[in-house]
Amino acid sequence: MRIFSGAALAFGFFLSVSANIAPRSYDTHEYFALHLDESTSPSDVAQVLGARHEGQIGELKGHHTFSLPRERSSNLDSLLDDLKSRRRLRRRSGAGAASLARRDDGLDGVLWSQKLAAKKRLHKRSPPPVELSKKSGTYKINLEALKAQEEIADLLGIKDPIFTSQWHIYNTVQVGNDLNVTGVWMDGITGKNVTTAIVDDGLDMYSNDLKPNYYPEGSYDFNEKSPEPRPRLYDDNHGTRCSGEVAAARNDVCGVGLAYDSKISGIRILSKAIDDADEAAAVNYAYDHNDIYSCSWGPPDDGQTMDAPGILIKRAMVAGVQQGRDGKGSIFVFAAGNGAASDDNCNFDGYTNSIYSITVGAIDRENKRTPYSESCSAQLVVAYSSGSGDAIHTTDVGADKCYSLHGGTSAAGPLAAGTMALALSVRPDLTWRDAQYLMVETAIPVHEDDGSWQVTKNGRKFSHDWGFGRIDAYALVQKAKTWDLVKPQAWFNSPWLRVQHEIPQGDQGLASSYEVTEAMAKKANLERLEHVTVTMNVNHTRRGDLSAELHSPSGVVSYLSTARRPDDAPVGYVDWTFMTVAHWGESAVGKWTVIVKDNKVNEYTGSFIDWRLNLWGEAIDASSQPLHPLPEEDDDDHTIEDAVAATTSVTQVPTQTKPLAPPTEATNRPVNQKPTQTTSSPETTSEVDTSPDTAADTTPSPSSTGTFLPSFFPTFGASKRTQVWIYASMGMIIVFCIGLGVYFQLQRRKRIRNNPRDDYEFEMIEDEDELHAAHGPSGRTQRRGGELYNAFAGESDEELFSDDDEKPLYTDRPGSHEESDRDYHQYEKS
Ligand SMILES: *[C@@H]1O[C@H](CO)[C@@H](O)[C@H](O)[C@H]1NC(C)=O
Ligand SMILES: *[C@@H]1O[C@H](CO)[C@@H](O)[C@H](O)[C@H]1NC(C)=O
Ligand SMILES: *[C@@H]1O[C@H](CO)[C@@H](O)[C@H](O)[C@H]1NC(C)=O
Repeated sequence: MRIFSGAALAFGFFLSVSANIAPRSYDTHEYFALHLDESTSPSDVAQVLGARHEGQIGELKGHHTFSLPRERSSNLDSLLDDLKSRRRLRRRSGAGAASLARRDDGLDGVLWSQKLAAKKRLHKRSPPPVELSKKSGTYKINLEALKAQEEIADLLGIKDPIFTSQWHIYNTVQVGNDLNVTGVWMDGITGKNVTTAIVDDGLDMYSNDLKPNYYPEGSYDFNEKSPEPRPRLYDDNHGTRCSGEVAAARNDVCGVGLAYDSKISGIRILSKAIDDADEAAAVNYAYDHNDIYSCSWGPPDDGQTMDAPGILIKRAMVAGVQQGRDGKGSIFVFAAGNGAASDDNCNFDGYTNSIYSITVGAIDRENKRTPYSESCSAQLVVAYSSGSGDAIHTTDVGADKCYSLHGGTSAAGPLAAGTMALALSVRPDLTWRDAQYLMVETAIPVHEDDGSWQVTKNGRKFSHDWGFGRIDAYALVQKAKTWDLVKPQAWFNSPWLRVQHEIPQGDQGLASSYEVTEAMAKKANLERLEHVTVTMNVNHTRRGDLSAELHSPSGVVSYLSTARRPDDAPVGYVDWTFMTVAHWGESAVGKWTVIVKDNKVNEYTGSFIDWRLNLWGEAIDASSQPLHPLPEEDDDDHTIEDAVAATTSVTQVPTQTKPLAPPTEATNRPVNQKPTQTTSSPETTSEVDTSPDTAADTTPSPSSTGTFLPSFFPTFGASKRTQVWIYASMGMIIVFCIGLGVYFQLQRRKRIRNNPRDDYEFEMIEDEDELHAAHGPSGRTQRRGGELYNAFAGESDEELFSDDDEKPLYTDRPGSHEESDRDYHQYEKS
C-alpha cells in the first residue's frame, strides 16, 4: 500500500516536470546535464533513466538538466562514464562503423553528459575600514575644473549629492584623470535603450538611486531561484555598488552612473554555491534584453589557481556572442583580477582570458598602477578604481545609501560596461567584436615610457600592464558614431605541434615555431587578426617556475604567462589556452614562435610537450563565413602521436630576456622587458621527427558492451534475458521503482540498508567536485575545481586603497556605509 502511494506520488512528480528554472536540492538529489541531439526529447530520456527533467540549461538548445534522488543515484557515475565512452566511440567511428556505438536503448541521442556539482563560493571580503590618512586633505582642487564641473552639473540638471566626489566622472584634482564622459552626456547620450546586467551578489532594486533604472525582466536570482535578485546576505553589497557605477539615476540620491538613463539588471550568482548549469544560464539570462554582462568575479587571485569555466559556461558564452542581442552578441566585461601582489596574471583565469570577454584592469586617480591589478596579454583596457588614497564613489545597499570605498578591478569593470552602454545607445547595431575594436582604438596609453609598451601593427600601443590604455568614454562614443561594422569572425587553427623536449633552466628558453602561409590564411578566410590563442601542454614539477612567450611574425611579443611565486602545483600547463590581444591588426602570415622558459635553476624540471596556434580575426569574405561551432569538451583531446611536427623546429636559445623578478620584488614584472630578437635568428639544435603521424586507433574495444545498459535498477538476481524483459517493460518498471525510491526515502531513518528485502545498493555518493573531472585519453584532466569569488576579495585595504606613499583619505565608519558629501569637504581648496 505504501509502495503504491509512493508510486502514485512519483508519477505526479513526473507530470509536473517543468522547463522552468527549478530550485536545486543537492542534499537529497544528484544533478546531471545532458546534451541531446535534435531528435531526442528530454522527457523520453528522463523516462529511460527514471530521472526528472529539470529543464533546458538557459539558452543552450538541446542541453538539459536532470535529477535523481540520491537513493537511486548510486549508478549515476557509471551511467555517465558509459555515455561518455559511447560518444567517444561514435566520434572515432567512421560513418560505416557508427552503428557500433548504437544500442537503440533511447540514449543514442545523448551527445554529451556531465555530473553537476554546486561549487562552494568563496567568502567575499568587503574591504576593511580604511584608516584616515595623515595626509588627508592634501588634494588641491583645481578651481577652474571645479567651476567647469558645476556648470556641467547645472546644464545637465545633475543634483546628485555625491556627484562632486565622483572623481572618476569629473576629476577636479588630477584634472583629466577621469572617464571623460561629461561631453558624451552634453551630446544627449546617456545610455537610453541599453541594459547592463550586473552578474554578482544581487542588486538593491529598492535603492532610490537604482529604482528608476531597474529592469526586472533582465533580472534573476540564481542563488534563491527567485525573480528578484535582492541582496539578502549581510555582505551582498558588491553587485549594488557595481550597478551604481553603471546606471545610478540622475536624481537626488548619491551620484550618477556613467549611463544614467540606461537600464540595469541584476543576476545573482555569487551568494551561494552554484553549479555549471545555473552559471551557464546566468551568463545568457534574458540575452535579448540584457546587452552587456558585467562580471566582477572569477577564480581566486591567489597566484596559484589556474582555472577556467566549465564547458557548459564556455558554450554559454559562445552562444551569448552568437545569439544574444538578436545575434549581434552579448558583450561580456570581466574584471582582470586583484592578484598582482601574489604574482597572479589574468591569463591564468579562463574568464578573463576568453576572447569573448573585455578584460579590464585598474588604474588609480593619479594614473598610477594599483598594487592589485593583474597584468596579462589578454587585458584589453584599464579603467579607474581605488588607489592613491581614494576609491570609487557609488550607490550602496539601502534606500538612500552611498558608498565611497568601492575598489579593486571589481570597480573598474563596470566603468567599461557603462561606457559600452553609452556607445550602444547611439549604435545599437555594434557587434560584440565592434565593442572590442572600439576599446582598442580609443583607449589612451599612459606612462608610455615605462618600458611596458610595444607598438603594434595596427599603429597603436599595447602594454601587458595597461592593455591598450585607459578608457576615454568621449573618444569611444565619438568613434562608435561613425564606426563601420567589422565583417564576421574567421579563425585558423594550426595542427597540434609536437615539441617533446626538455626545457632548459635559467636564462634560456625552448622555442618552437610554426609558419602560417598566405594560402593557409586565405583558406581560413582570415584577413586581419584580433585575438590569438595558444593552447599548450607543458610537463613540469613546479608550474610557478614556468613562463611562456609568443613572438609574432612582425616581432610583437606576447607574454602569455609569467612565473608565479606561490604556484607550487606539480603540473605544468595542461591543455591550457592562453590568450593575447597584442597582435590585434597584424597579419596572420609568417612564423609564430612560442618560447617556454623554466625560470628557476632548481630541482623542478619539465618538458614542453606540444602546442597549437589559434588565430582569430576578421573574415576576408563575409558571405562565406560560418559561425564558429560551440566548443566541445574534447576539442583539445589528442595524443602526442596526433601532433604533427613537420613544420616545427625546436630551438634552444637564450632569449635575452632577463630572468624573472627576484622573489621579493612583487612589482617587477617580466612583461616590462623589451621584445627580444630570438625569433629572427634561431639556432636550430634539434630537428624533431617529421614522419607522418600514425593513424589514431579507430577501433577501441568497447569497455562496456557486456552490459545492456548501466541501470539504476536492480537485477533482482535475474538472468540477462529477464533483464531484457525488464527493459522492454521499462515504463512500468520506472514507475514502480520510483515508487520504491520514494518509499525508501520515507523510510530512510529505518536503516534501509539492512532491510532484507532490499536488493539495491544504497550507497550515498560523496559530493565531490572531482566527479565532473573529465579524463582525456592521454590522462589529462580538464577540470573546473575553482570557485566563484568576488574580485574584490582577498585584498587588504592597504593593497586596495593605498599606494606606496599615499594613504586613504576616508574612513569607513564601522557599521555604516553612509556617505554624504562630507568627503568632498575634506579636500582643501586652493
Ligand atoms: C574628452 O572629451 C572632450 C569633449 O568633452 C573632447 O573634446 C576631448 O577630445 C576628449 N578627450 C579625448 C582624449 O578624447
Ligand atoms: C529607443 O527605442 C525606441 C523604440 O525602439 C525608439 O523609438 C527610440 O528612438 C529609442 N531611443 C533612442 C535614444 O535610441
Ligand atoms: C610528464 O612527466 C611525467 C613525470 O615526470 C612523465 O612520467 C611523463 O612521461 C611526462 N609526459 C610527457 C608526455 O612527457
